[in-house]
Amino acid sequence: MQVIAAVAELRQRLRGETGIAFVPTMGNLHEGHLDLVRIARQHGKFVVASIFVNPLQFGANEDLASYPRTLQQDCEKLQQCGVDVVFAPSERELYPQPQQVTVEPPPIANELCGAFRPGHFRGVATVVLKLFNIVQPQVAVFGKKDYQQLYVVRQVAAQLNLPVEIIGGETVRAPDGLALSSRNQYLSAPERTEAAFLHQMLAGMRQQMLEGASDFAGLERQAAQTLTGRGWQVDYVAVRTHADLAPPEAGARSLVILAAARLGKTRLIDNLEVCLEG
Ligand code: PAF
Repeated sequence: MQVIAAVAELRQRLRGETGIAFVPTMGNLHEGHLDLVRIARQHGKFVVASIFVNPLQFGANEDLASYPRTLQQDCEKLQQCGVDVVFAPSERELYPQPQQVTVEPPPIANELCGAFRPGHFRGVATVVLKLFNIVQPQVAVFGKKDYQQLYVVRQVAAQLNLPVEIIGGETVRAPDGLALSSRNQYLSAPERTEAAFLHQMLAGMRQQMLEGASDFAGLERQAAQTLTGRGWQVDYVAVRTHADLAPPEAGARSLVILAAARLGKTRLIDNLEVCLEG
């Protein structure tokens, strides 16, 4: 496995490779990322992973400076998973000039997480397009844990006619249900125990919906109140349509419940798809 930091060197190395499957990451890799790599290997002949903590997608008061950077350990894990090339550029390499040309994501990028992280999805869409142009993959794999991100990336690829197939990888969870995330390590021991409740709550909402509950706004309110009562600061709990993340119309069957809430200083997100019968 080669680790390459320069765009020109990467382009040179990838010349002539076909069937490139790409997994973009911000490093600090866990089993969830490694699962995306395994999916990439099933879909491509040559696997590229990138590690880049993208300043463009962090807000002024967010954790850019403290975001865990663990390049050495990450590369060991990627090598064991059969990655061919790791692209790990510096900030200067990827943004040699201030990035004034950006990708304007669709309006949904201002809702849900986007309402609490202004500009976040513009930063994601911009870096993802840059990485796609550098790596030129046939297939790219993103985790479903970042459900809204996956949707935005799919829209960017579709609406800008990018020649890449976007694949969503299932969320990998700890035995107690907590979705794996690099940010979980910010949690104190009691917070880590409580964190599993987010998934339990989503699973409870899904169960109620499967049993016929149709007052989604009521379910959202109840869930937010329960979380608040247990010490969470809730950004949102929302039932949305799976296909476009819009609020569901009456009779919608293919849904997803999304939530974002803070435990202490740590912001956690999670989601569950719900397919109603009928
Ligand atoms: O999901 C992430 O780790 C990042 O948002 C991504 C897709 C690598 C873009 O920086």
